[in-house]
Amino acid sequence: MKDFKGKIVFVSGGASGAGLGQAKVFGREGMKVAIGDVREDALENAKKELIAFGIPEKDILPIKVDLTNREDYAACADKIEEVFGGPPHLFIQTAGVNSFGPVEASTFDDFDWVIGVDLYAVVNGLLIFVPRMIKAYAHKTEFWVATTSSGGAFMASSTCAPYCASKAAVNNLMYSYAEALRPYGAGATVLCPANINSNIGNAEKFRPANLKNTGYHVSEGTMKTLRAIHATGIDPVELGEILKEGIENGRIIVMPDRHPETWANQVRSYNETIEDYTLTEAQRQEKAAKRMAEMMKNFTPPPPPKDGEKAPAPAPMWGTPDGGEAFGQARKDLDWVEASRRSQN
Ligand code: NAI
Repeated sequence: MKDFKGKIVFVSGGASGAGLGQAKVFGREGMKVAIGDVREDALENAKKELIAFGIPEKDILPIKVDLTNREDYAACADKIEEVFGGPPHLFIQTAGVNSFGPVEASTFDDFDWVIGVDLYAVVNGLLIFVPRMIKAYAHKTEFWVATTSSGGAFMASSTCAPYCASKAAVNNLMYSYAEALRPYGAGATVLCPANINSNIGNAEKFRPANLKNTGYHVSEGTMKTLRAIHATGIDPVELGEILKEGIENGRIIVMPDRHPETWANQVRSYNETIEDYTLTEAQRQEKAAKRMAEMMKNFTPPPPPKDGEKAPAPAPMWGTPDGGEAFGQARKDLDWVEASRRSQN
């Protein structure tokens, strides 16, 4: 899809972070921008930001929607048609949440919340929007479907399992949709970022009241550490521009940098870890040791800071000096969880 001007884009999770960056980028291309989010105050602020970014107010449609609620999501699709005169030509699903903790400590609420937003809401969106888009636009004009997934789609993580499982499924779905949409003259793209300067570190604050029973250690302190890590991530507008280039060139996977010529290698390196699961434990350890030796051979330490320059602070993993706490641990009262995987706070 190369022609955006005058068309309609809908961005889920468009009130914040990566979604707001995408709304800005495609709004700047002259698209009418609908943004859907569960947080009304964030939608209000996002509208102001979009106007300040130069997008005409008449081309902005904020919609309050809980994407996990199918009726709500269908009403959001109706609203876009009512106000902008048709379904989106570009449909980007970016809303997402995350929570960190040992998978063995997870509750049903932990899985239901994360999979509900990160996978099931994506399924809801595809089933609600894609038929409308095909009926309105197939063989008449360009249209496209994109989803913001994650590098987590390619890997396992014992402290972020519901998230990685959701994202892996989302990637797989998008590969299927890319094939499925081709006969209609359209396609699908899945964006797989690593770290974004966004508000996802606060996601726990907005966890629905009926899904609050977590097995993880979650506190103001863990959110503070996460916010500090995300503050070092890619700028959402820059990420939106990378996605735009990917859509314009019909890429199915888009990685979060400006060097598409290296992306196949990045995916290959993720896949190698999965291939290694077929090896014996001894073979895996031998391979891991070789890989580490190879990495160390190529490792060049960063140059020391010049006079008067401050060395960049390393990303905090285990808390920040000002009250941040380790994240990715179980609640401390779950005494059957291995002590090293349990919070001491
Ligand atoms: P963010 O928290 O800034 O934005 C996500 C938005 O989704 C929020 O405005 C939130 O209110 C909305 N949302 C959550 N649940 C919702 C629901 N049920 N219905 C409607 N809206 C809902 O976070 P960020 O980082 O911009 O996240 C965007 C996407 O990027 C997510 O899919 C996330 O998994 C992905 N991602 C983020 C990374 C990061 O480092 N922040 C890294 C890799 C992927």
